[in-house]
Amino acid sequence: MTARFCMLKQCRLKPVHGRSQKRRPAARPRPFLLYNPPGGGYRPVVSLQNPVTDHQGAHAMNVLLINGSPHKNGCVFTALSEIAETLHKQQIETSMFQLGTQPVRGCIACMKCREKGEGCVFKDELYVELCRLAKQADGIIVGSPVYYGGPNGSLCALLDRFFFSASALVEHKPAAAIVSCRRGGSTAAFDRLNKYFTISQMPVVSSQYWNGVHGRKPEDVLKDLEGLQIMRTLANNMAWMLRMQEKAALPLPAPEAARQQTNFIR
Ligand SMILES: Cc1cc2nc3c(=O)[nH]c(=O)nc-3n(C[C@H](O)[C@H](O)[C@H](O)COP(=O)(O)O)c2cc1C
Repeated sequence: MTARFCMLKQCRLKPVHGRSQKRRPAARPRPFLLYNPPGGGYRPVVSLQNPVTDHQGAHAMNVLLINGSPHKNGCVFTALSEIAETLHKQQIETSMFQLGTQPVRGCIACMKCREKGEGCVFKDELYVELCRLAKQADGIIVGSPVYYGGPNGSLCALLDRFFFSASALVEHKPAAAIVSCRRGGSTAAFDRLNKYFTISQMPVVSSQYWNGVHGRKPEDVLKDLEGLQIMRTLANNMAWMLRMQEKAALPLPAPEAARQQTNFIR
């Protein structure tokens, strides 16, 4: 996290001037950020507990699960929960980032992130939190509902800004996309999400089919037995890739000294 992000957080935490700590109303829980709440596990799916990770100070591996749906307990969440449960069986922790229903700004191509190297100029809560969670994650899985044959526009708005300004936080971390649709368009949405990873030097984890479940409601997804198996296979492959990286402990490949950018303009 950059110093600027830290400053932002500190500002928000300052007590309101003139009021005592006692009289301040309790902070409202933020419904769209349900990452590892105190006590472990997700709300409201209490059965999804993170594994106990007393590794005597050793680093417990963590996979960030991004629910790009406005439905915090919908179909995408159901698929991500299957992944979380499988990862937990492999003693890998998960953090859940909920996009929710907040308005999300898109990239305005101001290029300030590239000029200053301090992240996106818009330091909204979703962006700052995504950066924080991505930095601490070892692997990332992005989930989206299919909207008109593509991923949710709000999710893409956030991911455009995140990957354009902060992809250094996730380079070389294994990644995967999953999608949920009622009927069609899943592979186009899946392809679109994978493009974020392959331009950011992230190894893409695969499964036994293109990562999708079908349903309009979570109950439908639970009936999609093949879809759920695809999610479990993906989670096991993610765990395998993370363990391989950990075991090999190889230094990251060094980039070339100068990065080329050749625009197709005559
Ligand atoms: C605006 C909008 C567009 C949609 N477009 C498609 C589509 O192109 N193809 C499809 O099969 N389902 C489409 N759906 C249905 C959702 O993708 C599907 O219900 C999904 O599983 C919902 O996931 P969620 O419960 O996590 O939000 C659309 C839904 C909405 C609200």
